[in-house]
Amino acid sequence: MKAIIGGTGVDRDKRFLDGAERIVTRYGEAFYTSLDDIIYLPRHSPGHSVPPHMINYKANVQALVELGVDTVISIYAVGSITRRLSPGRFGLVRDFIDLAFSRENTFYDGSTREVRHVPFVEPFDRKLGALFARTAVEEGHSLAMDSVYISTNGPRLETPAEIVAYRNMGADIVGMTLGTEAALLKEAGIRNAAVAYSINWAAGLDAEGISFLEEESIDRLVGAIMSIAVKTLAKV
Ligand code: HPA
Repeated sequence: MKAIIGGTGVDRDKRFLDGAERIVTRYGEAFYTSLDDIIYLPRHSPGHSVPPHMINYKANVQALVELGVDTVISIYAVGSITRRLSPGRFGLVRDFIDLAFSRENTFYDGSTREVRHVPFVEPFDRKLGALFARTAVEEGHSLAMDSVYISTNGPRLETPAEIVAYRNMGADIVGMTLGTEAALLKEAGIRNAAVAYSINWAAGLDAEGISFLEEESIDRLVGAIMSIAVKTLAKV
């Protein structure tokens, strides 16, 4: 079984909203819809009701495990730190830096399973990412490759000094959810390709302060990514 995990912007897609089902796992509840052999899981619950630092990531990933999901395309709204992925564009995430804290970010917490340190040399599935990239190009889109995502705790946005520090650390894009989610997906043995789309320049990089893309532009971007994701998963 295959799944798409969507967040900000994506969860306005009616596939994430219509007829959401609730599943109760040993870590808590999660919501999903299923259509055409694909599970749609709204990261922030239906209606975008849970902020990034409060999401029950373990329940979301455990729900996918229980639904028999082995392949995921996960989609993230981000802010741009470098020009590699500028606002209005989307692309594949190659690697991440996780700065989030006080979150349940492992299944190997000593309570339910053995002590294990899962290797993260390859955080994302390269073949699945390549298939997504090829499908995007076939559909006439250009995409950014190889971005590094830095995961902050949120929910506040960053200071300009933090963004300068993150750029010096090697980050191209910033968001609040990927690190926790990607770690759990890998621990669960689910192959995952992460796709980010940028909706703003990060703090200090925009003379206007922080300005986000208009809703119609976000909807267009998300529509394209969803269509490519569905076509990609159909080939797996
Ligand atoms: N910072 C953190 N998360 C985000 C941003 C940002 O600028 N834009 C979208 N998600």
